[in-house]
Amino acid sequence: MVAVAILAAGRGTRMKSQLPKVLHSFGGRSLIQRVLDSLSTIQPSRTLIIVGYGQEALRQSLADYPNLEFVEQTQQLGTGHAVQQLLPHLEGFEGTLLVLNGDVPLLRPTTLQHLLTTQQESGSAAAILTAQMPNPQGYGRVFCDGNNVVTQIVEDRDCTAAQRQNRRINAGVYCFRWPDLAEVLPQLQSNNDQQEYYLTDTMTMLKPVVSIDVDDPQEIMGINDRQQLAMGYRILQNRLKEHWMKAGVTLVDPDSITIDEDVQLEPDVVIEPQTHLRGRTTVKSGSHIGPGTLLDNSQIGEQVTVLYSVISDSVVKDGSRIGPYAHLRGHAEIGEQCRIGNFVEIKKATLGDRTNAAHLSYLGDATLGQGVNIGAGTVTANYDGVKKHATVIGDRSKTGSNSVLVAPVTLGENVTVAAGSTVTDDVPDDSLVIARARQVVKPGWQLSPSEPADA
Ligand code: UD1
Ligand code: CA
Repeated sequence: MVAVAILAAGRGTRMKSQLPKVLHSFGGRSLIQRVLDSLSTIQPSRTLIIVGYGQEALRQSLADYPNLEFVEQTQQLGTGHAVQQLLPHLEGFEGTLLVLNGDVPLLRPTTLQHLLTTQQESGSAAAILTAQMPNPQGYGRVFCDGNNVVTQIVEDRDCTAAQRQNRRINAGVYCFRWPDLAEVLPQLQSNNDQQEYYLTDTMTMLKPVVSIDVDDPQEIMGINDRQQLAMGYRILQNRLKEHWMKAGVTLVDPDSITIDEDVQLEPDVVIEPQTHLRGRTTVKSGSHIGPGTLLDNSQIGEQVTVLYSVISDSVVKDGSRIGPYAHLRGHAEIGEQCRIGNFVEIKKATLGDRTNAAHLSYLGDATLGQGVNIGAGTVTANYDGVKKHATVIGDRSKTGSNSVLVAPVTLGENVTVAAGSTVTDDVPDDSLVIARARQVVKPGWQLSPSEPADA
C-alpha cells in the first residue's frame, strides 16, 4: 500500500507573489498539478495534500482531481512539521509513504517508481532522491557513508563552508516506511537557522536510509523564485520539443516556440518561429502554423496554413488558409478549403466548406453555408447594446464590400448583397438586395458664384 503526501502549505516567500507558489503556472498546468501528474503510474491508495497559505485557491484549483485529501497545516513551521500533520490521518497505516515537495514539477513517473521499488526491495526505512548538481546552491546537502547510506542532510544555510562543497543535493522526494517515520516524527527539534522542524532531520533517526542519484539532475529541480520558474519552464519546453521533433514535427527555430503539455501534433506538421501552442490544441498532419501565431485550445485539421494569427477555442478544418492577421475566437468553426484572413475577426460562427472572408470583416454569432463569399469590410452587426443576435447566410451567397448585416437577419441561398448595403430584413433565395441610397448625379452643377470661396 502506497500513500502519497504533497507538501504545499508554504507561501513561497521567494516568489514575492499573492498566489501560493504551487499554483504558479508552468506550461499550461500549475506546479502542483504537474506533481500530481507525475504520480500517474503509481496509483497511490491515498493522496494527502498539506495545505495552509492560500488553501481555498488550492482546493478549488484541484477540484477536478478525485479522492484528494486535504490536511491543514495552520502554521508553516517547516517540512517536518508539515509531515507531522499526517499523524492523525495515517494512524494504523502500515504501508509506504511517498513524500514530495509541491514545488518539484519536472519529475518523471519512472523515477518515482524506481524510488519506491528501491526502498521496498532494499528493506530500508527510507529512500530519498538525490542528484549531483553542478550548482547545488540553495539545496540541502546529502551526506552518505561508503555504502550510499545517508548519514545526514544539512540545509544550505546551515552548512559550514566545507559542507557546502558537497554537490549531492536532496531533491525533496522521499519514500518512507510509514510506521518507522511515525515513530520519529514527534522527536524533531527546530534548532537550526530558520527555527523550523525539518523533515530532513529524520534521516539521522531512521536506519538505514538509502540515497538514489537521478541520472538527469534537471528532473528534480525545485521552484523557489521566478528565475527558477523560468529555468524550469525552459527545461520542460526542451523536453516537449524534443518529443515532438522525434515524432516527426518540424520546429523552425525551436527557441522562439512554446508548446503546452496537452498539445497534440501529428507528423509533418511544421511550426514556424514565434508561434505558441496552448491548452488542448491539436494540429493534424501537413499543416503549417506560423510564423507569429497563437493557437489556444483549438483544433486544426490537415493541410491548413495559419499565418500571423490568433485562434482560441475554435476549429479549422482541412485545407483552409488562415491569415495573415485573422482572429478566430469563442467557438469559431471554419469548414474545409476556406480562406480567412487579412484582418478578419470571427467569433462564435460556423462557416461551411469553401467559404471565404478574405479581407477586413467581422463575423459574430453567424452561420454561413458552403461556398459563401464575404466581401471586404462586411460586418455582422450582432449586438443591439443589450443582446447578441444571429445572422444566417445560405450556400453560395455573396456580400458586396462594406455590407452591414443587422442581426437578427437571414439571407437565403444564392443571395447577392450590393456593395455598401445595410441589410435589416431577411432576403429570400436567389435574390439581389440593394439597401443603400441611390447615387444622384447632377450634370453641369457648379457652386453658385455668389458663395464665398472659403465657405
Ligand atoms: C527543501 C529541503 C531541502 C531540499 C529542497 C528540494 C527541508 C528542510 N529542506 O528545502 O533539503 O534540497 O526542499 O527542493 O525539507 N512546506 C509546507 N509547510 C511548511 C514548509 C514547507 O508545506 O511548513 C512545503 C512548501 O510549500 C514547499 C515544500 O514544502 O512546497 C518545500 O518547502 P521549501 O520551503 O521550498 O523548502 P526548501 O527550502 O526548498
Ligand atoms: Ca523548495
